[in-house]
Amino acid sequence: MKALILSGGKGTRLRPITHTAAKQLIPVANKPILFYAIEAMKDAGITDIGIVVGETHAEVRAAVGNGEKWGVNITYIPQEAPLGLAHAVKISEEFMNGEPFVMYLGDNLIRDGVTSLKECFEKSGANAQILLAHVPNPQNFGVAELNEGRVVRLVEKPIDPPSDLALVGVYMFDSSVFEAVNSIQPSVRSELEITDAIQYLIENGFRVESKIVDGWWKDTGKVEDMLEANRLVLDGMAPENFGEVDSESEIHGRVSIGKGSKIIGSNIRGPVIIGENCVIENSFIGPYSSINDRVIIRASEVEHSIILEDSKVLDIGSRMADSLVGKNVKICKTLKKPQAYRIMVGDNSEVSVF
Ligand code: TTP
Repeated sequence: MKALILSGGKGTRLRPITHTAAKQLIPVANKPILFYAIEAMKDAGITDIGIVVGETHAEVRAAVGNGEKWGVNITYIPQEAPLGLAHAVKISEEFMNGEPFVMYLGDNLIRDGVTSLKECFEKSGANAQILLAHVPNPQNFGVAELNEGRVVRLVEKPIDPPSDLALVGVYMFDSSVFEAVNSIQPSVRSELEITDAIQYLIENGFRVESKIVDGWWKDTGKVEDMLEANRLVLDGMAPENFGEVDSESEIHGRVSIGKGSKIIGSNIRGPVIIGENCVIENSFIGPYSSINDRVIIRASEVEHSIILEDSKVLDIGSRMADSLVGKNVKICKTLKKPQAYRIMVGDNSEVSVF
């Protein structure tokens, strides 16, 4: 069995971060989301992995390389434009070479990985297996209609959803999916939809099975989802300390501190992960924060946030929460007159003040 991880796309919902970075490389608990996908494949014994890449291909290649560090073989499959999930399947036909495969959306996280799903698919002899989850907002997903457990219809982002069962970003296919993706037409949003390809399989006598996801699953397409994924991963994190914590500091709960980081006169309340070579001084870092390498936080409070490499939060005097801060960002208090917010933010940014 092979794997296809989708790491192209536009990432419009995570702008401005995705103006300068691939969304699949945004870290959750200080590790790029895409790496969790590769690890899930490796854990399931799948070592032949195709990664579909788009505009951000250079960055993805630089981060993942040939897969050596995970003991897997990576083949990059360039997609000329984000023409849909089924288009990504279509261009991978040669790579799959007739083998069944797991298709995994590179911005999704699934707690229990794919091992049992793969075993179940292999035993079932089905042509396709989809994964479903109960969601409160099915209008935002591909939704399945079941009849006595069998999938009878799939609809993409329905106004009037037939159920609350959303398609999770992990699919299993045998080579019959290529007949489907080569037969369907682009949708009104000009994409080849994977829901249409699966619907084709159902209508043309192929066997499509479904499984309901047990553990948590997260599509990290939006900031709130990214923060929630961060929370879920930090909840399962093992604490470790390779940094220096001075006698004035207090560390509570599950806290992981990387090499070369210094905690000075601060209170860290886990779950929190702090990367390498950070300085946290006279500050409070509250639960569910991921602080990446070389970040400096001074005289500030941060909680339930993700802060990327080389950023600084200095003397802000109030608490920052529920935030995603990009790389090399500076947030600071100034005594300059007149007292005012002085802001330089990129396109599509969002700043909330009180
Ligand atoms: P989506 O989140 O559906 O799309 P997107 O990345 O374009 O994001 P947005 O809606 O915010 O603009 O994509 C799911 C995953 O599949 C994601 O990892 C990107 C990837 N993808 C491709 O590789 N090729 C494609 O043609 C599409 C549509 C998505």
